[in-house]
Amino acid sequence: MTVLIVHDSIYGNTASIATAMAQALQHDYTVRLEAVNPGHVPDLTNVDMLIVGSPTRGFRPTHSIQEVLEALPEAALSGLRAAAFDTRLDLETIQPAPLRWVIEVGGYAAQTIERRLTTRGCHIVGEATGFLVLGTEGPLKDGELERAASWARAMVEASTITKGAA
Ligand SMILES: Cc1cc2nc3c(=O)[nH]c(=O)nc-3n(C[C@H](O)[C@H](O)[C@H](O)COP(=O)(O)O)c2cc1C
Repeated sequence: MTVLIVHDSIYGNTASIATAMAQALQHDYTVRLEAVNPGHVPDLTNVDMLIVGSPTRGFRPTHSIQEVLEALPEAALSGLRAAAFDTRLDLETIQPAPLRWVIEVGGYAAQTIERRLTTRGCHIVGEATGFLVLGTEGPLKDGELERAASWARAMVEASTITKGAA
């Protein structure tokens, strides 16, 4: 089984999360880890599971991730197992407190990625999630790399079960 993890990262935190996922999976699966590269469309040939991650910027994924989601070929996305994640600010670190409500209501990148993967034909295998940073440039909150590893394993295991049942 081949897992492709596509991510963007401005300050490196989302890249660290994606790397932790790849490390957690590579013992049992073939893993390709790709940072978005403008103009390059990831090759989905022989990919069984796609994981897409982005920093949340203005409640959304980065432009580069949005472009990749549009550029991936429809035929390869159809029925492909997929999952989405983002990085986002830990609400408890946001001051003044009323701003937390705005950030929360505004939404997060993973939701947008998941919606777009769905409308483009992917089969979402598990709940999208966000990993927390303690400031705009990081660092990641303690424990998030471990949580990323567990989440990725759970997504791929769910994907295997779904595929077996299909
Ligand atoms: C312009 C800008 C907009 C941001 N918007 C949000 C947001 O809407 N919600 C949020 O939780 N974090 C927001 N953040 C914080 C980012 O999510 C954080 O910088 C990112 O997770 C760090 O990941 P990276 O190191 O991979 O770039 C924003 C940061 C910047 C610089």
